[in-house]
Amino acid sequence: MSKRADAAPTAALGALLVEALRVTYRLPGGRGGTVPALRGISLTLPPNRILGLLGPNGAGKTTLIQTLLGFVKPSAGTVQIFGAAAGSRAARARLGYLPELPLFYPYLTGRELLDFNGRLFGLAPRVRRARAADLLERVGLTPAADRRLAAYSRGMLQRIGLAQALINNPDLVILDEPTSGLDPLGRLEVRRLISDLKTDGKTILFSSHELSEVELVCDQVAILSAGRLLRHGNPTDWQQPGESLEQLFVREIQADRAGNAA
Ligand SMILES: Nc1ncnc2c1ncn2[C@@H]1O[C@H](COP(=O)(O)OP(=O)(O)OP(=O)(O)O)[C@@H](O)[C@H]1O
Ligand SMILES: [Mg+2]
Repeated sequence: MSKRADAAPTAALGALLVEALRVTYRLPGGRGGTVPALRGISLTLPPNRILGLLGPNGAGKTTLIQTLLGFVKPSAGTVQIFGAAAGSRAARARLGYLPELPLFYPYLTGRELLDFNGRLFGLAPRVRRARAADLLERVGLTPAADRRLAAYSRGMLQRIGLAQALINNPDLVILDEPTSGLDPLGRLEVRRLISDLKTDGKTILFSSHELSEVELVCDQVAILSAGRLLRHGNPTDWQQPGESLEQLFVREIQADRAGNAA
């Protein structure tokens, strides 16, 4: 048994374990207003899979992701990353994260940003330099590595965000809309990067509205609607003959909304 498995005896449960998760946001203003963003989500993800997280705007994708990261606290239920509580040091060490709207210090260069993030994880200077150079190459930013982020285009910022998500060599990579703002070539590169991460043994969870992309790269999808998990698994199990993932998605969401309205 490896040391890591010793350190996390529940790792056999999977890269991700979410049980009966509820998140209710309190609205500011003291009037007691609340938003039920997640209404009882349970799912598990074994290691070395790619999960696509789908759902209309406001379905709860970003909330779920932020709960996995420990940024948002569950109102009820549990979340574990390789057997460690979400937000714990042990969980954070194994996670990489690309936010929905990455914000970076504009005066840093791409290479400096990666170095800065490597320091936050306590990496030695030599390791930081080597990882930064490798990641810059993987996301196609080597020529712009020493340019300030203020001069990066939206797609370039998205790429450097992907690189910084990987600086700690995480086991579970969580990406909130990783292809938004990318041109078709950039999207293709991100898909390749995600597939390569799987080949390297990583587990990947990413949210997306680009269903044709999700279809190309994911082993599993989870469909959220209004804070509930409608489906989780391999979409080929629920697709009708000749149905695309987009058509399946629209069918599921419309059926859910019609059911809720009835
Ligand atoms: N900080 C917050 N305070 C109050 N309500 C919030 C907060 N963040 C999100 N919400 C609400 O929670 C629900 C889920 O939002 P969330 O951002 O998780 O959706 P999403 O699926 O990521 O949507 P999108 O596709 O637009 O990114 C929405 O009703 C949203 O208005
Ligand atoms: Mg979101």
